Amino acid sequence: MKSVILAGGSGTRLYPVTQVVNKHLLPIYNKPMIYYPLSIAMLLGIREILFIVNPEDLPAFQKLFSDGSHLGMSISYKIQHKPNGLAEGLILAEEFIGNDNVLYLLGDNIFFGHGLIDVLRQAKEELEQYGGACVFGYYVHDPERFGILEFDETGRVISIEEKPKKPKSNYAVVGMYLYDPEAVEIAKSIKPSHRGELEITSVNQVYLEKGKLRVKLFGRGFAWFDAGTHDSFLEAGEFVATIERKTGLMIGCIEEIAYRNGWIDRSQLLKLAEHLKKTDYGKYLIKLAEEGK
Ligand code: DAU
Repeated sequence: MKSVILAGGSGTRLYPVTQVVNKHLLPIYNKPMIYYPLSIAMLLGIREILFIVNPEDLPAFQKLFSDGSHLGMSISYKIQHKPNGLAEGLILAEEFIGNDNVLYLLGDNIFFGHGLIDVLRQAKEELEQYGGACVFGYYVHDPERFGILEFDETGRVISIEEKPKKPKSNYAVVGMYLYDPEAVEIAKSIKPSHRGELEITSVNQVYLEKGKLRVKLFGRGFAWFDAGTHDSFLEAGEFVATIERKTGLMIGCIEEIAYRNGWIDRSQLLKLAEHLKKTDYGKYLIKLAEEGK
């Protein structure tokens, strides 16, 4: 399985902050926002990543991640010239995806929860066995902001609506999707929505109509943030800071995950920590290397 991470878009909901800085490079507490979705792919054991980026932000992403080899990974980039919608990323990633399954992640989504990776791993296994797609629902208080699930009386999902004025439930589809390679052709077949974007919800709706969409709901033990507004951005940072201070463990620390996955060894970890050593982040990595896994 490969992963595509969307880090383009206009970030207008975070203006004026994102007028000249890419949203995904802003800090959520002590690390760039983009580390969080990247870490989800890594925790699932995925080493091949494609970032979808705006033309003007490509150099910054390349400076941050290079080709990924320092993490024992392969990281590449594809430019999206205009924010034509989330589903366009699938079309842009056609060559990268090839005949593989894909974990499709939104660069401004942050996930945390005990057992999260187990749920994802199960979804990955089901995808490998049955094909199709899998999406995840999460209870929210502001459903007008998201793609929203509609259920029948037996609890089966019967539709997904993008940013509905009259939401049919409080379950939002989070920015983490698992697709078989057919997703590319489906993305090519859908039409832009009334706001002129190729919606990922339209892709999911096609899978649903074909009877090939699995839906899993995250329960109370999970935290999910779409850090795309001022309040949710701050909330996500405060959440990460609280958990990290309380547990002494980091969320979304990509060097740690690469090390624990066995993709880099102790000396490589220490090398990565070198230029970070004035920070608690760097000290954390050095401690990790000293303690062993
Ligand atoms: O966060 C979950 C929600 O994400 C879902 O519930 C919705 O169904 C889905 O449409 C999406 O809604 P948003 O309005 O939050 O999407 P947003 O425009 O913020 O874009 C999400 C990420 O994708 C963000 O990191 C920017 C990036 N992006 C966005 C667009 C429109 C791109 O890379 N290219 C794009 O063309």
